Amino acid sequence: MTNSVLSQTSTRALDEGASLNPKLAALSGILAAKGATLLRNNAVLPLERGKPLAVFGRVARDWIAVGYGSGGDVNPPYVTNLTDSLRELEVAVDTELATMYEQWCAANPVDPGEEWGKWPLSFAEMPMPDAVIAGAAVRCDTALVVIGRAAGEDRDSLLQVGSYYLTNDERCLLKRVNRAFARIVVIVVTGNVMDLAWAEELDVDGLLLAWAGGQEGARAIAKILVGEMEPGGRLTDTIAYRYEDYPSHGHFGDLDANTYVEDIYVGYRYFETFAKEKVQYPFGFGLGYSTHEYSDQIVQICDEGVSVSATVTNVGSAKSSAVAQLYVRKPGRLNGAPERELVGFWRSPDLSPGESAQFTITAPLRNLAVYDDAAGRDTSHCWVLEEGSYAFFLGNDVRQAREIGTAQFDRKILERLEQAAAPVVQFDRYVREAGADSVKLAPVPVSEVDLAARITQRLPQSSGKPASDPRFEDVLAGHISTADFAASLSNRDLADLTYGDVTMNSPLGAPGNAGALGGVTRALRAKGVPPAITTDGPSGLRLNATATLLPCGTALASTWEPQLAEQMAVLHGEEMVLLGSDIILSPGMNIHRDPLCGRNFEYYSEDPLITGSFGAAIVRGVQSRERSACPKHFAVNNQETNRIFNDSRLSERALREIYLRGFEMVVKDAGPHFIMTSYNKINGVWGHYHYDLIETVLFGEWGYRGAVMTDWWMRMAPDPNFAGVYDSAYRVRAGVDVLMPGGDVHQGTTREDSVFECLESGTLTRGEAERSAVRVLDFLKMRYATLSAK
Ligand code: BGC
Repeated sequence: MTNSVLSQTSTRALDEGASLNPKLAALSGILAAKGATLLRNNAVLPLERGKPLAVFGRVARDWIAVGYGSGGDVNPPYVTNLTDSLRELEVAVDTELATMYEQWCAANPVDPGEEWGKWPLSFAEMPMPDAVIAGAAVRCDTALVVIGRAAGEDRDSLLQVGSYYLTNDERCLLKRVNRAFARIVVIVVTGNVMDLAWAEELDVDGLLLAWAGGQEGARAIAKILVGEMEPGGRLTDTIAYRYEDYPSHGHFGDLDANTYVEDIYVGYRYFETFAKEKVQYPFGFGLGYSTHEYSDQIVQICDEGVSVSATVTNVGSAKSSAVAQLYVRKPGRLNGAPERELVGFWRSPDLSPGESAQFTITAPLRNLAVYDDAAGRDTSHCWVLEEGSYAFFLGNDVRQAREIGTAQFDRKILERLEQAAAPVVQFDRYVREAGADSVKLAPVPVSEVDLAARITQRLPQSSGKPASDPRFEDVLAGHISTADFAASLSNRDLADLTYGDVTMNSPLGAPGNAGALGGVTRALRAKGVPPAITTDGPSGLRLNATATLLPCGTALASTWEPQLAEQMAVLHGEEMVLLGSDIILSPGMNIHRDPLCGRNFEYYSEDPLITGSFGAAIVRGVQSRERSACPKHFAVNNQETNRIFNDSRLSERALREIYLRGFEMVVKDAGPHFIMTSYNKINGVWGHYHYDLIETVLFGEWGYRGAVMTDWWMRMAPDPNFAGVYDSAYRVRAGVDVLMPGGDVHQGTTREDSVFECLESGTLTRGEAERSAVRVLDFLKMRYATLSAK
């Protein structure tokens, strides 16, 4: 069955009546400005407000505020555009040109694409006669050219003109405007990284990356252009000169499986170690309107790990905030290590010219440790602090960071774990021999785990049927535990607690919701079990009602200020209360492995520390308002093409150090109430059937205390390890508690019923179904106990 048949219907229907919080809009504007990243500035920005400005590019009007799909389909009260926002600030926008664009855009509206997953990747440009450019150049010295790139779920960017590359029209426009005007500033508004090599070829004076910034995004960019705000962003991805230089190149886009040959050498971990000269803009780079210098650096071993204190001074001429970035070079004795790894960061308040601030960044030992995935050593399957010298680098980006000192450690095993989710197919991966600057290939350690035996040995026990026949109110009143309540349920009711409602837009919740879970059957509700309502997503509440459209994940992360994102999430939690959402399907926490992944805009970075820091901030913010967050997609969901069948094949080291690390941080630092599994397979097993990822790692090692839901439209399959266990029974055995809407046997009012069937036949144990039911009930108890306490 294709996705077009399963299309999620659009929820667009404006409800102008909703009273949204203007503070949330204002804060999202500040975040959009702090995330906008200035890459070139040849003394052209900020603009002189009174001087005439020629604005080229249809995207100045048809601004890209968000991506498409579940991470973008919000009904905002308004979306700002750049032309109007500049006029609001009394910039002398050239009227003749602006009127031309206005009329043309009205007559040639943006084509939203034929259907789900067929979104446009860019918008056709207005034909631009030479005479118009020449005329505008007589009236104005400076030109702004706006280039836009769209992206969305279920579709990757393409290595083609109009997607990763400029269209011929855009290139031709840029060339001619560049030739005709004394100064040219290019704004690229996008959610995903695109080719920027042309900026150097054309030698444009200014280049500003305006990440899709939500409803206030264009207004924020206008304020930056006139110097009312600083472009505060720092890259959370490396931008290479050529797509072919990314280490995932050649191992992305396959329909069946991608082999993560680059291993832990993702993004800057690869470039800074093996291919510095391939980098156009390094990780962490961003100019702002001033420059900062560091002094008084002290590196010290402390109880948690290593603490670095320093002073930063604004040595430029504009008010500006610094982003101090701390990197480590580990000894790399066991399996080699990258030249630089981010272990901490700090964003200063705005500093006046000449002003200094002191700060301390602490890198916990765990951030300095490596995971040993080799077999047969005393460090096998351990997080190890290797013995030797750790060099620390501090600065404004990964390339500029200077060595500021070292710390010496003896070998220490921080955690002894067991092999989990390791590859089942042998391949060669990148390794680095001590100090080497070229890549070596070495065979990846493969799985030696007998998964069936592991699962059988660890089967959870049923609590045993209690004497009474309790109601859920007894749980809320504290008279009975959720375990005893689950044990009291019939196989029918127990099984039903492990399924969400059959369809999206559940009648149990606000119109346009993504689906319900909990008390989704009449029988469960008759026992007092309430439903809970889920809504997308990372850029705002996706409901029929009007909701605030927030900056995309990459925009937020580019601020390097998770504390501010957390403040936004607090207000977002309040909007959930206002509009009727219990669980937001956010944050999106997959790693930017390859610049072509169509959903990169929803996620944060190529780096796990940035990802985990922002994921945790969002979860803490939302959950401070007695609402719940659901980090997704667990895990290694790095490609949209054939995402529901694709297998991500990677080493256990890369899995744990890169792809799971952000999730681990979010679980340990913020305690999300839910986690969503991914569509793809991880080393041969679908995310929603992955016992090792869910039970061994998430619950077992990390001590997760929430519940797990699937993504939408899941694949059904027999359990290869246990005869007679299939579909959702396979899922519950893996510890994935709730099947969310969709799926080929889920259309209309029927759904697959394998949990009930396997409970009845005895191939799934009561203990396993009760384990999932208890997690759902614990969530409902927490949610409704706080309500009934009010
Ligand atoms: C997406 C999820 C989203 C869900 C519900 C799926 O297609 O992958 O991220 O939360 O739909 O809309």
